[in-house]
Amino acid sequence: MDQSKIISSEVNEAQIAVHWKEEEIYRPSAKFIAQANLKDASVMDRFSEKNFPGCFTEYAEMLTWIEPWREILDTSDPPFWKWFTGGKLNACFNCVDRHLEKYKNKAALIFVPEAEEEAPVAITYQEIYARVNEVAAMLRDFAGLTSGDRVTIHMPMIPELPITMLACARLGVIHSVVFGGFSGEACGLRAADSGSRVLIYADSYYRGGKLIDHKSSAEVAVESARREGQNIDKVLVWRRYPGKYGSVTPMVEGRDFFVDEVLKNFRGKKIQPVAMDAEAPLFLMYTSGTTGKPKGCQHRTGGYLAYVTGTSKYFQDIKPEDVYWCMADIGWITGHSYIVYGPLALGATSVIYEGVPNYPSAARPWKIAERLDVNIFHTSPTAIRMLRKAGFDEPQKYDFHFKHMTTVGEPIEPEVWKWYYEVVGKGEAVIVDTWWQTETGGFLCSTKPALDAMKPGSAGPGVPGIYPIIYDEDNQEMQAGSGKAGNLCIRNPWPGIIQTIWGDRERFVRQYYQKYCRNPQSKDWKDWPYFAGDGALMAADGYLRILGRVDDVINVAGHRLGTKELESACLTVDEVAEAAVVPVVDEIKGRMPEIYISLKPGIKASPADVKAKVTQTIETMIGKIARPKTVQIVPDMPKTRSGKIMRRVLAAISNHMNVGDISTLANPDIVEQIRVQVQGQGPVETQEGPEDVKHFGTVE
Ligand code: WTA
Repeated sequence: MDQSKIISSEVNEAQIAVHWKEEEIYRPSAKFIAQANLKDASVMDRFSEKNFPGCFTEYAEMLTWIEPWREILDTSDPPFWKWFTGGKLNACFNCVDRHLEKYKNKAALIFVPEAEEEAPVAITYQEIYARVNEVAAMLRDFAGLTSGDRVTIHMPMIPELPITMLACARLGVIHSVVFGGFSGEACGLRAADSGSRVLIYADSYYRGGKLIDHKSSAEVAVESARREGQNIDKVLVWRRYPGKYGSVTPMVEGRDFFVDEVLKNFRGKKIQPVAMDAEAPLFLMYTSGTTGKPKGCQHRTGGYLAYVTGTSKYFQDIKPEDVYWCMADIGWITGHSYIVYGPLALGATSVIYEGVPNYPSAARPWKIAERLDVNIFHTSPTAIRMLRKAGFDEPQKYDFHFKHMTTVGEPIEPEVWKWYYEVVGKGEAVIVDTWWQTETGGFLCSTKPALDAMKPGSAGPGVPGIYPIIYDEDNQEMQAGSGKAGNLCIRNPWPGIIQTIWGDRERFVRQYYQKYCRNPQSKDWKDWPYFAGDGALMAADGYLRILGRVDDVINVAGHRLGTKELESACLTVDEVAEAAVVPVVDEIKGRMPEIYISLKPGIKASPADVKAKVTQTIETMIGKIARPKTVQIVPDMPKTRSGKIMRRVLAAISNHMNVGDISTLANPDIVEQIRVQVQGQGPVETQEGPEDVKHFGTVE
């Protein structure tokens, strides 16, 4: 292993130069390999291009179908690929009913409440079957929902969330789960976009030792949906403690109902799972992209479920005997694919933890792992960084042994990876660094845990059946091992890709395919590479190192936030004339938004008040997850002669980097003024920043 080899090379304008050294590799243990689901190296041949798209039947055959598919991949309407057409299945049946014969008495979910005094609750497959049926009956017969309807679910990490999702899937109702940490306003806008007339809520939940009043945001959600022209007829409210209301906001007569009360009328009811077309949408998941409005990523039933089941089996190495814990929130794609649908389709036991990882201390995850004997663990670099900082030696104090661990959502620093490996994994667990996106449904890049070496900081090569390629801005392929980074694309379609953006086919094409499409008339998938919007570099061995987003999206703690969304929130504050949001490096969260605003003339309010108002507005319009690290009030923004705000320059100042060439700006003098304001008097800083920050705002 040549650790001293520095990768770097000549680059042109369309390319990104990177200066990383190759990391030492690690190998899976013989013990792990012996028991792994995927240990036959012929998988690469089975999923090679000559066997595409037929290779993906290997995943589809892991499911139970009501009607077999006629065609594996239909490319008649590019890039709206269709998978397993003609096939019929039910996602809920696959995740619940089909396990009853063998596993009815086995835990499907183990719910761990945040309060340590509250014991974990195991919910067996039989119990989840009974509960999902009752909820499905309620949704159908009380809320009047039927297949194809959309319903917005705004709930925290309690077992009623996956139960509600599965009940929707049983009926073919399309669920749209909005992350519990988002504000009522954000929830309402998404409900309106999806055309939901039913909202499903929870009254309260525990977070950081406090019982949070969640239902109070429902009023805002209903109101903001109404402003967008969408009426909400019913708000169904799960109570954290049935019979005891944990919110101060009054229930609205005729609109709001307690689920535990309504369910009494459906006790023991059974609902036949509806046979859904493979191409019927299963759910929507909103995510941030290049323009202000969040995109409703529309996932299909057959291809999605096949893809998450296959990838859960091969890359998470899940078996029914395992205790699997993914610490993500179900309100994000990771939770949908790798807490709910993938693991349950495999008959796994999936742990759901209500609270924050550091409550009451950074030892909490290790206590839970010890207590439940978790053997597969899945989390994000942000959580790993936080746990490492707050309790470096804590994992050693607890008797747990992971066979397998995952990192997902953002690049992980090699140092942090090594702590995860040595201290959390105790040198025994294999690690997969999985790169993928809301749009992709499941993993696209990862090592094959029993077959490949691990390289700290690198997501693995493309997983079987996924053929990644890196292009520069001039559509030139960047060769593996060239040391040059570019835009990460996937050459081929796969079953987990979204069908479209809800209600916006044109945006789907524009965002993911327009840039690198070779021929818009072509019906050959080879002419339609998928553009992921991430910068990356491919090593000679095919491993990918991800630089981060090339668009104006900031990845905070592994979650995508649209800068335009944040900027428009700032502009709703009366005093604000202009706003620009840039990423600033944060030791724990990876990146955080830093906000620059300029004020309208003649503003009387104190700067402190305006800053507080901006922060407050962001929390109410988007959620606490988007809270800025700082708000800077500046006299003016650095601008091009055509009036475009130069976010790149602000990002450089915030991150103590070289501001680069500013000679073409309309107002170059403002740059030094802002620099002194942010960094203080002192010498000009020229730190080498991380690649994503360096290139922030440079790619159109
Ligand atoms: C980033 C989360 C580096 C990337 C599953 C991507 C990663 C965005 C990794 C998607 C990884 C995800 N290494 N970066 N292993 N995984 N990302 O839609 O920028 O919330 O485009 O999906 O997260 O975020 P999303």
